[in-house]
Amino acid sequence: MLGWEELENKCRKCMRCGLASTRTNVVIGRGSKTAPVMLIGEGPGEQEDLQGKPFVGAAGQLLDLLLSALMFKEDDYYICNIVKCRPPGNRIPTDDEAERCLPWLRNQTLLIKPRIMVCMGSTAMKYIIDRNAKITQIRGQWTERKGFWIMPTFHPAALLRDASKKALMFEDMKKVRLKLEELRGLP
Ligand code: URA
Repeated sequence: MLGWEELENKCRKCMRCGLASTRTNVVIGRGSKTAPVMLIGEGPGEQEDLQGKPFVGAAGQLLDLLLSALMFKEDDYYICNIVKCRPPGNRIPTDDEAERCLPWLRNQTLLIKPRIMVCMGSTAMKYIIDRNAKITQIRGQWTERKGFWIMPTFHPAALLRDASKKALMFEDMKKVRLKLEELRGLP
C-alpha cells in the first residue's frame, strides 16, 4: 500500500490504460481523507478533466446540493470515481480500463478507511457490488462487505435526465445519513 504522496504522484503519471493519451488531468478525489463516507462515481467528465477534481460539473453541483440538504459536513465525505481519467465523449469505461484503474481506488480506500461506501450509478455498482445487478433493482439496499456498509444509488447525472429519480436518491442518501449517525453512536 502506498501513502498519499506516492499514490498521488504515481496516479498523475499513470499510463496503465489508453485513457492516459486523451486526458488533461488525472482526477484522484476531493473531500476529507479521513472521511467516514466515500462516494464513488463512474469517471471524470469534461469539467472534471479540465479542473482535475471529481464532480465539479452540473452533476457535481446537484450532488453537493443533496449532501448539504442532508446536513453532511465537508469532513464527512470523500468523492472519487471508478476511473481517474476521462473516457472520450464521456463513454462508459471499458472493463479493461476499470480493472487497470481499480488498484488505485483500493489503495485510496485503505488510506481513508471509510465506514460507508456509496456507489453512484451502474458503473460503480458493477465494480464494487455486483457485476450482474441492476441499479434500479438494488438501489437503496445496504450490502455489508469486508467491514464496509455499501449503498447503491443513482448517479446524480441520471437525476438531471429524469427528475423523478431525485426523491429516490434523496431517500437513499437519507439512509446513508442515518447509518452515519448510528455508526457514530457505537463505541
Ligand atoms: N460523473 C462521474 O461519474 N464522475 C465525475 O467526476 C463527474 C461526472
